[in-house]
Amino acid sequence: MPGILLGEVFPNFEADTTSGRIKFHDFLGDSWGILFSHPADYTPVCTTELSRAAKLADEFKKRGVKMIALSIDSVEDHKNWSKDVMAFANEAGTPLPFPIIADDKRELSVQLGMLDPDERNKDGLPLTARCVFVIGPDKKLKLSILYPATTGRSFDEILRAIDSLQLTAQKKVATPVDWKPGEKVMVIPSLPDSEASALFPNGVTTKEMPSGKKYLRYTQI
Ligand code: BEZ
Repeated sequence: MPGILLGEVFPNFEADTTSGRIKFHDFLGDSWGILFSHPADYTPVCTTELSRAAKLADEFKKRGVKMIALSIDSVEDHKNWSKDVMAFANEAGTPLPFPIIADDKRELSVQLGMLDPDERNKDGLPLTARCVFVIGPDKKLKLSILYPATTGRSFDEILRAIDSLQLTAQKKVATPVDWKPGEKVMVIPSLPDSEASALFPNGVTTKEMPSGKKYLRYTQI
């Protein structure tokens, strides 16, 4: 079964991109990384997505996350389509601020389980789905998202998830539903109360539950 699981080391693949040939781990260096695939160049939803990703490039940079896109089109197609993407972002003439991998032989798409069997090109070959992989500085997979070709992603949600990943990589906390940076976080269940009060100087509040179990513990970071 192709694909990659959370916690596995992301493959150190080689690929042609709009910025030349790369070896993925060298491309990442010590940074976090995000690799996101789209079905095809010159398609409407993909154009809106890459345009939004380009608009948010500074936000990814602020968080130390290197961006790279992927589809099964050629480098030449990617370079030409990028001009449309930047024009859609009202930044015509500015280069796309991240490279796009040309997986025209579909090798990487098969290896990473990115093909969408329901969406095919004119030759009947499957297109890439809308995958997102967030990779940590240790080169391990921290998050993956898989949307079908017909549903565009929210890059604001991806940034929110990265904020959670980066926070929870450092502190023994988890982020609750709809959390946004600055809001209260939850103490992870495996941390005993005795250690929690020492670790969180802003205090820990516990919500009473009908079960009487004291598992809903909040703190402010
Ligand atoms: C799109 O990007 O608009 C798209 C691509 C493939 C299938 C459906 C939509």
